[in-house]
Amino acid sequence: MKVYRVLRNRTASRGKQLGYVAGVLTMPAFLALATLFAFGLAAMVIAGHLAATVNGGPAGVDQASSAEQGLGASSFGKPAGKPTKVVGSSGQPRRTARVLVVYYSRSGNTLKMAEAVVEGARSVPGTEVLLREVTTVNKEDLNWADAIALGCPTYFANIPGIMKECLDQWNWKWKVDFTDKIGGAFATGGGQMGGKEHAMVSLLLFMLSNRMMVAGPLFEDETGEDIWGEPGAGAMTGPLDPGVSEKELESGHRLGQRLATLAVRWIGSAQL
Ligand SMILES: Cc1cc2nc3c(=O)[nH]c(=O)nc-3n(C[C@H](O)[C@H](O)[C@H](O)COP(=O)(O)O)c2cc1C
Repeated sequence: MKVYRVLRNRTASRGKQLGYVAGVLTMPAFLALATLFAFGLAAMVIAGHLAATVNGGPAGVDQASSAEQGLGASSFGKPAGKPTKVVGSSGQPRRTARVLVVYYSRSGNTLKMAEAVVEGARSVPGTEVLLREVTTVNKEDLNWADAIALGCPTYFANIPGIMKECLDQWNWKWKVDFTDKIGGAFATGGGQMGGKEHAMVSLLLFMLSNRMMVAGPLFEDETGEDIWGEPGAGAMTGPLDPGVSEKELESGHRLGQRLATLAVRWIGSAQL
């Protein structure tokens, strides 16, 4: 029994010694790991703070993606509303200019003009074009556009009521911000002096009231020496000159071309 107790005591004290030695050996390693972890954590916090400062705050990622939207985006600490330069490594605009063509048409004349405007806009390199009937256009389409062409028939020397109702909704209900978007208008009318120019001017006034910049088609004679502009594009469709002629379609084409050209320039010249 005595021998057994002596053996047990010896074994116990040897165990304590071993535990002490292991503790002494592992402590520095533990302390080294803890120090490394603390340094790493501090470095991450400092790096995060610096990155946030460079990007103008924690919203840096959102701002970069809003820069993709180009006009009016708040980017890299610049105040909102300032145009943003969106260029790729080649120095070219990173995204295309967006032209939206919105029309109302019951018997197809104004639709033909709208299609000519679309073709004109498409003929300008670096342009994306969307055609929408006025009752189907939505808020996203309107926000998406850099340039908007509006067209409608003449009803009693003015724009049709349905067109007015939709336009009012864009502002009153949808609260679309049209600031600095480029705009142009076109109208068809049955009569020679039936008021289609008045309808077209009404569309332009809507745009001006909503802080847009408006433009019309450009023309030149065969020699190219005589050049002029018009407030919009139009077609006379009544019995005196039925349908939409090639020349009238050309005015729509020129309108689309002008709006797209301005939109491409506007995006390309916007400064950081
Ligand atoms: C209710 C109504 C009123 C119209 N009022 C005029 C008018 O005041 N002046 C005019 O030149 N044409 C007038 N028109 C003719 C249309 O403006 C013309 O036919 C137009 O090209 C129709 O366009 P759409 O084919 O795109 O619907 C009127 C047509 C309708 C249905």
